[in-house]
Amino acid sequence: MNKGLFIVLEGPDGSGKTTQAAKLADWFRLYGREVVVTREPGGTEAAEEIREIVLDPALNLSAETEILLHLAARADHVAKVILPAGGAGEVVPCDRLRFSTLVYQGILRNRDLGELVQLNGFATQGLLPDLTLLLDGSPRALLSRRKDRGVVDKFELQGLDFQEKVRNGYLQLAKAEPE
Ligand code: TYD
Repeated sequence: MNKGLFIVLEGPDGSGKTTQAAKLADWFRLYGREVVVTREPGGTEAAEEIREIVLDPALNLSAETEILLHLAARADHVAKVILPAGGAGEVVPCDRLRFSTLVYQGILRNRDLGELVQLNGFATQGLLPDLTLLLDGSPRALLSRRKDRGVVDKFELQGLDFQEKVRNGYLQLAKAEPE
């Protein structure tokens, strides 16, 4: 009963990961579980600083730099937050993890996924989620939902084509790792 549980939410921007992570947290708390909700890139002081760098388009990072920064942030996050919380029997819903790297840095950039899987394994000390939930939705539907909420952001700026590629990347990974 008190075993830690590491649940990752993945999916395109606007698919509801943050909302569902909060709902999962509420649900587990109702059952008396300790919960730590977290996100990537981020989750620790150092990883949040790396987030500022890695998500800043003005820095024009090379593909390799971007990968290593995402993984450096992840290494700090896993070592300082996720592993200790799991060890203490806590539930950890996390917004994005390994599938995000495989989609955004891998599939979208035509890179070797095997290499990224290996690098990710190093960063995470081999830790894998107990469960990864993929939230899916057509880019057109997600965009109109955001417009209804008056949100104009990266999602729109990147365009439906980009979001379609992200979605297809996720579906490809889910097919390869249905478990
Ligand atoms: P997110 O926090 O969902 O963005 P927002 O605050 O705009 O909702 O995610 C930040 C971005 O980081 C998202 O576009 C995906 C990207 N990302 C990667 O490219 N690689 C990764 O490994 C991770 C974790 C995120």
